[in-house]
Amino acid sequence: MHRLILAAAPGWLPPRASEGAGKVDSIFMLILGITTAFFVIIVVAATYFTIRYRARKWTAPQPSPSHHLKLELVWSIIPTILLVAIFGVSTKAWLASADAGTTEAATTVYVTGQQWKWQFEYQGGKRSDELHLLLNEPVDLVLSSPDVLHSFYVPAFRIKQDVVPGRFTRMHVTPTEAGNFPIFCAEYCGNDHSIMQTQVVIHADQASYDAWKNEKIDESIPLVKVGELLFQKNCQSCHSLDGTRKVGPTFKGLWGSTQTMEGGEAVTVDENFVRESIVEPKKRIVQGYPPAMPPQSLGEREMQGIIEYIRSVK
Ligand code: CUA
Repeated sequence: MHRLILAAAPGWLPPRASEGAGKVDSIFMLILGITTAFFVIIVVAATYFTIRYRARKWTAPQPSPSHHLKLELVWSIIPTILLVAIFGVSTKAWLASADAGTTEAATTVYVTGQQWKWQFEYQGGKRSDELHLLLNEPVDLVLSSPDVLHSFYVPAFRIKQDVVPGRFTRMHVTPTEAGNFPIFCAEYCGNDHSIMQTQVVIHADQASYDAWKNEKIDESIPLVKVGELLFQKNCQSCHSLDGTRKVGPTFKGLWGSTQTMEGGEAVTVDENFVRESIVEPKKRIVQGYPPAMPPQSLGEREMQGIIEYIRSVK
């Protein structure tokens, strides 16, 4: 596959700014090559047959064969092999950029898509309307929406990920090119869908990234603090931080762990399980605990805050 990767994006494709972008381009070129080859073969053959077997004078139609096993095997097996191969290379490239599971990058950015703007929140309290990243630093993007379906589209990353109300989606990306690249919403989401765009700013070095991060003191409190305040108000009577068993499971070491549910299902504690446990706590209960928790309704930022807080309780 590596030999197929073009050194740079051809002029008619957007610039590339992530590790996975080259792979996406080579798969695109591979598919384009296959379809072009078949297009040429079919058009040339059709043209040739049209001329070769044209009716010079009227003759009664000959009965044509109704079945040809060899021919049918050929046109079934060859496309099957090609499609399975395309599926294979595409899946491999997709898995590298899709759900990073619990193998986490050092940095997480929470992306909120909301009618009709993008908001980015970083660990440590910084929020911005543009996505700021550091060159060559892998990052996990955790995306959610408080209203309707949006789609986070960064052509330079060759990434397009739906942003779905009521659940978290994830993208994993390593920027490989410093500069500014456009971000679009790629799912029709109402009146001002077309202006729902911003840009990703990739800083060339740590100094420039830090300068931006310290640029203006943000008066908003960090996500982890939002989570801590909520914990003190709503959670601490039933959940401990030090491993002590209370009515509900302890938060210590909870993040990323595998828990066995009533009924035997094993579940990894990630963003979506935390959300479900808060919104529909009785849906899946950790084995050995009573179904005691009432459903809570939290805003998107409070939800992100609780997740950051649970992550921080090691
Ligand atoms: Cu958001 Cu279209």
